[in-house]
Amino acid sequence: LLTSRLYHEKVVEHYDNPRNVGSFDKDDPTVGTGLVGSPACGDVMKLQIKVDENTGKIVDTCFKTFGCGSAIASSSVATEWIKGRQMEEVLTIKNSDIAKHLSLPPVKLHCSMLAEDAIKAAVKDYQKKKAKREDNNSSPP
Ligand code: FES
Ligand code: FES
Repeated sequence: LLTSRLYHEKVVEHYDNPRNVGSFDKDDPTVGTGLVGSPACGDVMKLQIKVDENTGKIVDTCFKTFGCGSAIASSSVATEWIKGRQMEEVLTIKNSDIAKHLSLPPVKLHCSMLAEDAIKAAVKDYQKKKAKREDNNSSPP
């Protein structure tokens, strides 16, 4: 098979059995949504987190990726790595870690970059929504 020659087996495995595919309601106050696109190829990745408001822990996560096999595999790995972790912790995940884990070739590095960007965007979105709510709560009636 062409794919098995071009892609490392972990990529194929995540591509065939992507983890945590799905969608959360983006208006849910406990949900952060990261939607990013790759300028290099136009592929798009949506990654969402569900956060425990009291602990800041990511209790659930899901993604939808319209992109190449490496982008799908990168999002799948990303969701596996961030589930159950603290928001600050997952901000340290680098695309190079994901690329290394999947043995992505250099031309596919931008695919893992989407995953790093999507994680950061999801956390940012959650924090923005939370700050806005707190702002509303503290404003005088
Ligand atoms: Fe799935 Fe490592 S092979 S996260
Ligand atoms: Fe665009 Fe992989 S080729 S994300």
